[in-house]
Amino acid sequence: MKKVCVLGLGYVGLPTACMLAVQGHRVIGVDVNPRVIETISQGGIHIEEAGLKTMLQAAINSGALVAKSEVEPSDVFIIAVPTPLAADKRADVGYVESAARSIVPFLAAGNLVILESTSPPGTTANLLCDTLAESGLKPGKDFHVAHSPERVLPGNIFSELVSNDRVIGGITPESAEAARELYESFVDGEILLTDATTAEMVKLVENTFRDVNIALANELTLIASEHDVDVFEIIDLANRHARVNVHQPGPGVGGHCIPIDPWFIIEDSGRADGLIKRSREVNDATPLRIVDLVADLVGAPAGDPADSKIKISVWGVAYKGNVDDTRETPATSIVTGLKKRGFDLGIFDLHARHFDFELDSLENAVDGADSILLLADHKEFSYLDPQEVGRLMRRRMIIDTRNCLDPQKWKDAGFEFYLFRKKM
Ligand SMILES: NC(=O)c1ccc[n+]([C@@H]2O[C@H](COP(=O)([O-])OP(=O)(O)OC[C@H]3O[C@@H](n4cnc5c(N)ncnc54)[C@H](O)[C@@H]3O)[C@@H](O)[C@H]2O)c1
Repeated sequence: MKKVCVLGLGYVGLPTACMLAVQGHRVIGVDVNPRVIETISQGGIHIEEAGLKTMLQAAINSGALVAKSEVEPSDVFIIAVPTPLAADKRADVGYVESAARSIVPFLAAGNLVILESTSPPGTTANLLCDTLAESGLKPGKDFHVAHSPERVLPGNIFSELVSNDRVIGGITPESAEAARELYESFVDGEILLTDATTAEMVKLVENTFRDVNIALANELTLIASEHDVDVFEIIDLANRHARVNVHQPGPGVGGHCIPIDPWFIIEDSGRADGLIKRSREVNDATPLRIVDLVADLVGAPAGDPADSKIKISVWGVAYKGNVDDTRETPATSIVTGLKKRGFDLGIFDLHARHFDFELDSLENAVDGADSILLLADHKEFSYLDPQEVGRLMRRRMIIDTRNCLDPQKWKDAGFEFYLFRKKM
């Protein structure tokens, strides 16, 4: 069992720290945000994730996990800090660099440093190794360095941490082997060893595949509406083909990975105008198409936007269903666009905690509304009673961008029901 220091206690780092602690490792969780340290030290959580609170309390109460703001000497350092997209559409690897620099004074011969943050190809072998070498120790010779991209699905992190296959790329084969030894303590999936830059690209390719595939689905939505057919039915039937897997369309692509990682893969590639970028543009244009759709179906507010009387009840602002995460959510552009068009809005989300605009209770969001616009497919929406909802509304209309609700149930309650532009 090792002493492991996990830097960055967010969606990736905190569950990983808990998992290592309950497996018997001694874990120091480090975060630069004092509020995060305070909350975790008291057994509380600052992010929503199924099973996290129970795991955290077990880890904290047993003393196996301690949250601190400073790094300590350890056997293993795991870096799970943000790698956001900068304004110039390049990766901001500044958090990785500063996390690595905070390890430098504590680095000792024989240690292992693992980068879990999603990073552009070459980050581990160059930026990370160069920064750690400021310790005077030689990466790959005096200590091990590896990249192991995290592929967990928010909402299902604990089961996926264990069951997912894990790619580990070492700067040397020995580094990859050292990282395998650690992950073997909790991973049931296959552990696949490679070099660090390949591992970085594998993660980026996974999300780029999904982004390009969603762009296809979003484009099919436009073509299907020209023929007045249901794009979800088309994709469902096409996917019955054994070798076809078209993803689901939606109001845009959000979250911390899919809209960002494709930029990382093309940033130094010379493919800046290729298919990957075009797909990003298609997906980025989707939220404003949803604004146009609402204006077309519900009717744009007349006259001075300030006099608008048309109210849209926006349901679900998280970037997808059943999570609280609003990072990069298309709901931000859609709400901004609807406000610019002069619509009154009532915004409801039972999972999201932080959003750029004020959230309402369900009753307030629906009260007097002329249409519901469903953006995130939280499972609770399908349990709502359409009659109860409809009673509060001025006009019974719903636009579902996720194929989340049963159209018949809502039509039986007198709703005009649209799947994108298709009237059901
Ligand atoms: N969220 C996901 O589902 C997911 C999935 C796979 C991969 N990833 C990748 O994992 C990495 C982390 O993502 P996340 O969602 O956990 O981010 P997050 O924002 O939820 O958490 C990151 C934490 O790191 C802390 N931090 C920043 N700089 C630090 C430093 N120098 N030292 C210590 N702590 C520091 C922040 O305060 C924050 O609490 C990113 O590269 C992301 O792309 C995320």
